[in-house]
Amino acid sequence: MKIPLVDLGQQYGELKSEIDASLRSICEKTQFILGPSVADFEAAFAEYCGTKGCVAVNSGTSALHLALLAAGIGPGDEVICPSWTFIATIEAVMYTGATPILIDSEEETYNTGPDAVRAAITEKTKAIILVHLYGHPVRMSEVMEMAQEREIAVIEDAAQAHGAMLDGKRVGSIGDIGCFSFYPSKNLGAFGEGGAVTSNNEEWLAHIRSLRSHGETERYVHGEIGFNMRMSGFQGAVLGIKLKHLDVWNEKRRTAASMYRNALKGTPLILPADDRSNTKQVYHMFVVRAPKRDELRASLTEKGIGTGIHYLRPTHKQPLWISRFGDHRPLPVSERLADEVISLPIFPELSEEQVSYIAGSIKDFYA
Ligand SMILES: Cc1ncc(COP(=O)(O)O)c(C=O)c1O
Repeated sequence: MKIPLVDLGQQYGELKSEIDASLRSICEKTQFILGPSVADFEAAFAEYCGTKGCVAVNSGTSALHLALLAAGIGPGDEVICPSWTFIATIEAVMYTGATPILIDSEEETYNTGPDAVRAAITEKTKAIILVHLYGHPVRMSEVMEMAQEREIAVIEDAAQAHGAMLDGKRVGSIGDIGCFSFYPSKNLGAFGEGGAVTSNNEEWLAHIRSLRSHGETERYVHGEIGFNMRMSGFQGAVLGIKLKHLDVWNEKRRTAASMYRNALKGTPLILPADDRSNTKQVYHMFVVRAPKRDELRASLTEKGIGTGIHYLRPTHKQPLWISRFGDHRPLPVSERLADEVISLPIFPELSEEQVSYIAGSIKDFYA
């Protein structure tokens, strides 16, 4: 049996006629950049997340970059971030000239916990980026309290967590600003690059709207140096159609995760943390910790099972970090994760038969 890590084809098959008609209509109307499809998606996504507004951009990386600029982050400022994240979280901080302050993850959830944040706060801390990694919401309430006392901005990197819930709210609506990626393999994926910010801060949203389009305040009037970070009309159309299915797809991912939890009983794998009483995770990935990880991966590849390593190194062990800042103090949880994690296939259409083939192959390996 061949099982890819992610299967995007089935989703397209399901929505083909609607998506094709909508892309054709954009061609016919020549609404290639921004336009009504993007504006409609922005309104729908803000409503979905429960924020006053949303600004669509050309990637999750741009969303983070512009969120930091809107929060006034720049040279001399410190931004607290997890070392255990996709590199874009940290690059965005570096683009602004601010210094990322890397902290370790919690052992149980692999996410940022309040104690590590507290220990990293200094007079220079201007923002904290919380990454809902793999679709698992960060414990935010204590961090929010600390941040509010000190007027530190909280930026949610929700690139892997569209629709995840914390305390009855969608991620991306809890901090000062939320950042999303619509990279095709994400829970809500475009047919190309895409991203968005969500916020209740209308001043920041207006600033980001201007920054994404060359700092324009009115047509051909430029108030500051901005960027070309606009979303294309095609992506707005695809995302608008797919958003209507996101909750059902996330539910299916949660079902696939339960199937894994049952099927993997008795293996030496450490499974992802369960939901807490106040969370609803959306399993962007199903990441387990495995003894003999690399050998297991090779054996699954031989059996036709796609896997991934998210991630091979924590940020403080990346060449880009070491060449710029030198050796970092140890961050033991993230360093251990880099040696142990393996991502198993997960997508809404993953079947019970596929899960049992994967679990059987894992059991065979350890036997
Ligand atoms: C946690 C996290 N942050 C940021 C990004 C950047 O998003 P994009 O690839 O759309 O620029 C990603 C995308 O993979 C991500 O997983």
